[in-house]
Amino acid sequence: MGWTQTRQPITWSSHLSIGVPGIDEEHRLLVEAHNDLASAWGSTAEHEVAARAMRDLFAYADYHFRHEEELMRDARYPELGIHRRQHLRFIDMLMALDAHFTAGRAGVLDISDFVGNWLLTHIRFTDRQLGEYLCGEYLFGEYLYGAPPTAAGAAPVGIDAISQVAPLVR
Ligand SMILES: [Fe+2]
Ligand SMILES: [Fe+2]
Repeated sequence: MGWTQTRQPITWSSHLSIGVPGIDEEHRLLVEAHNDLASAWGSTAEHEVAARAMRDLFAYADYHFRHEEELMRDARYPELGIHRRQHLRFIDMLMALDAHFTAGRAGVLDISDFVGNWLLTHIRFTDRQLGEYLCGEYLFGEYLYGAPPTAAGAAPVGIDAISQVAPLVR
């Protein structure tokens, strides 16, 4: 797989959709966070703008990864372990780059290139695989036909996940 230059803003397109509307929206916001970081390059107060963009990126990536991992647990996704390790590795790499940036050993473009390439690859392959599983699970699996409540009056496990894909059920 080639190394894509991402100094230009990444434009959101349907090629990045994984078929789960809530997750697609979070990915769109992550792409925006990447673009904010990349746009810090060469600006006046580059360091401050980039540091702020990095904080936003860390916070939003953490939120998004937790959400995806919750969906995977609810759906008993068999690839949860491998997928989660990719998320953890991304955070580790980002923290290392952030430390280099703070120490003046890495520039904004080193970080935004890494983030952009990671996002594009992870969304197109790893997250898309999850999207296919979730769509199959919820469209054709037990949830569509109504799983028995887990306790009196309680919602079945995965109710949040259902709302994520509900617009796909026609
Ligand atoms: Fe994702
Ligand atoms: Fe993911």
